[in-house]
Amino acid sequence: MRIDDALVWAEYTLVNSDSARLDAQVLLAFVLGKETIYLMTWPERDLSEQQKAQFEALIEKRVNGHPVAHLTGEREFWSLPLKVNNSTLIPRPDTEVLVEQALSEIQSHFTGQTSILDLGTGTGAVILALATELPMAKCVGVDYSHDAVQLATENRDSLGVNNVSILQSNWFEGVTGKFDVIVSNPPYIDPTDKHLKQGDVRFEPLSALVANEHGLADIRHISEQAKQYLVEGGCLLFEHGSDQGLAVREILQDNAFVDIRTIKDYSQNDRVTLGYFK
Ligand SMILES: C[S@@+](CC[C@H](N)C(=O)[O-])C[C@H]1O[C@@H](n2cnc3c(N)ncnc32)[C@H](O)[C@@H]1O
Repeated sequence: MRIDDALVWAEYTLVNSDSARLDAQVLLAFVLGKETIYLMTWPERDLSEQQKAQFEALIEKRVNGHPVAHLTGEREFWSLPLKVNNSTLIPRPDTEVLVEQALSEIQSHFTGQTSILDLGTGTGAVILALATELPMAKCVGVDYSHDAVQLATENRDSLGVNNVSILQSNWFEGVTGKFDVIVSNPPYIDPTDKHLKQGDVRFEPLSALVANEHGLADIRHISEQAKQYLVEGGCLLFEHGSDQGLAVREILQDNAFVDIRTIKDYSQNDRVTLGYFK
């Protein structure tokens, strides 16, 4: 089978995916061990029998809903190639807003060596992005899941990032010291949310997605504890659901944070809320 014929077949087979063409290209490039540009450059090249069989098996899994990132084992975040698996969330583009905002707050409020804590680090996406932008910063990422800790550690090591410690902890329980900045993209989906039965999230662990109190329990818990782990003038930033901006601002107010603000994502939805401990 030729490359162009394989792509036409896969796109037709993935008719229920709203990203059929892209999915097919990413999976075929993965099978061939090439960049997607190779597919456009050499459409007439033939797949070997082994490549054809591997591609067909991946397309079948995609038809059954498996996320492309789980099939390739990789997802790019902040231009960093990250390994992913089913121990934690596949990093989402909207989470780059959390990184951008943390960098902006650090640039305007902190001097010298900044210390940053990432709660619920998962693949390490957020803390590795911050650490590569701020090579002098002292960074710590924690996750409750042993497998996620292992994954984040592998990502750190394969990217050669040397200013991040990764540790297993139930939120702050294993954390010592104080930080200038605490970032978190915690579980924030209501357990009854119908979106949990759709798309990629069906293949991601509920422990990475769901929190009680309409998704706000972990944000509340972290907000209540955070001041013991922030320096005076320190900043706490959360990613949250698009309908949770007001509730998260109220939680931060209840815990005496100041200069509280919500920032929108690229689709103009409330996505990140922050406050300062003064
Ligand atoms: C929404 S995912 C975010 C992953 C990653 N930071 C990202 O933005 O792609 C939430 C993460 O919080 C972790 N988590 C859930 N409960 C936790 C707890 N009690 N203590 C520490 N981490 C926890 C999950 O294992 C998961 O990796």
